[in-house]
Amino acid sequence: MKPANSVLSGYGTTVFEVMSQLAVEHGSINLGQGFPDDNGPDAVRRVAAETVESGPNQYPPMMGIPELRQAVAAHNRRFYGLEVDWRQEVLVTSGATEALAACLFGLIEPGDEVVLFEPLYDSYLPIIRRAGAVPRLVRLAPPDWSLPRDALAAAFSPRTKLILLNSPMNPAAKVFDRDELEFIAGLMARHDAYAVCDEVYEHLVFDGRPHVPLMTLPGMRERCARIGSAGKTFSLTGWKVGYITAPLALLQPIAKCHQYLVFTTPPNLQRAVAFGLGLDDGYFAGLARDLEAKRDRFAGGLAEAGFGVIDCAGTYFVTADFRPLGFNGDDVDFCRHITTEAGVTAVPVSAFYEGEAPRHFARFAFCKQDEVLDEAASRLARHFGRS
Ligand SMILES: Cc1ncc(COP(=O)(O)O)c(C=O)c1O
Repeated sequence: MKPANSVLSGYGTTVFEVMSQLAVEHGSINLGQGFPDDNGPDAVRRVAAETVESGPNQYPPMMGIPELRQAVAAHNRRFYGLEVDWRQEVLVTSGATEALAACLFGLIEPGDEVVLFEPLYDSYLPIIRRAGAVPRLVRLAPPDWSLPRDALAAAFSPRTKLILLNSPMNPAAKVFDRDELEFIAGLMARHDAYAVCDEVYEHLVFDGRPHVPLMTLPGMRERCARIGSAGKTFSLTGWKVGYITAPLALLQPIAKCHQYLVFTTPPNLQRAVAFGLGLDDGYFAGLARDLEAKRDRFAGGLAEAGFGVIDCAGTYFVTADFRPLGFNGDDVDFCRHITTEAGVTAVPVSAFYEGEAPRHFARFAFCKQDEVLDEAASRLARHFGRS
């Protein structure tokens, strides 16, 4: 038999899947994969349920239903002062994952270079490589994940088509500040590059920090495609509704990819997300406040259990150094060990790097009920002899 595509068949099953499977087998508390254990806002689910009943249930427009595209444009204006033409500059996608694929396949020409930061979300590299581009990886290092400006400048070249920027960043929980974004914008302008901005955690930013979309910086409005996710903003990860805001010249080729890949996204879910994006400011502030409290609760529990906990500025992930526990092994061993022996699952941070990586950090998701977080922290404390 002839072989299948070698780029994709070269990648194994994702670490999230492997660890989740192990968590099920051992009945452990799964803080590996990032999904909330609540059911999202009642009112948003109700609109979806009503629209399943009443319809429409047939193919919606390829770009997304007008209500949702209008809501995305209004959301851009409300939170970031961005003026967006909903008819030409918004595309609804089947989750941010599809949005990323549509942006990368739509914009990349074989041989282009794409600059991106490690540690990185697992869908980026396979898609970039499948699109025929060459990734230029720039490493951020724990514990402060600061921007290595010289390395970043060196990664740009005349062949750079775009930078893929994830802020707030999974798994590092870093939020890029304005100064760092200005540096990135300067490089983009100098090299005539675009940015695909993965901002799925835009509403999960803590301690009063602002989330600054790169697109709002001078000269960046025409160079950025900004991606959001209802899965993250409404704690409805299974819905897979995403949205892209981009200038027409970028959105046209991106929409071509969407047209041939999935064409549309369920209309009832789109209507419910349009309703959700219109919720008052209290909803969005409350989401960040709740998760900030969970971060403090769980990070405190990890510290009491003996971990070295790294600052978490955004997202719902916290990274912890397990060396202070005296564990003898790397991060993959550690995550297997706590799953089978302590009844808590995390994911190894080295899985978010390609090649050599730090091997003493585990990532925990804290988007869970308080009782679950408390139980996980006390299991770890008990196991490592801290209680
Ligand atoms: C950084 C990042 N981008 C994209 C996604 C995917 O979002 P969606 O579920 O909307 O496809 C995730 C999900 O974990 C993520 O962490």
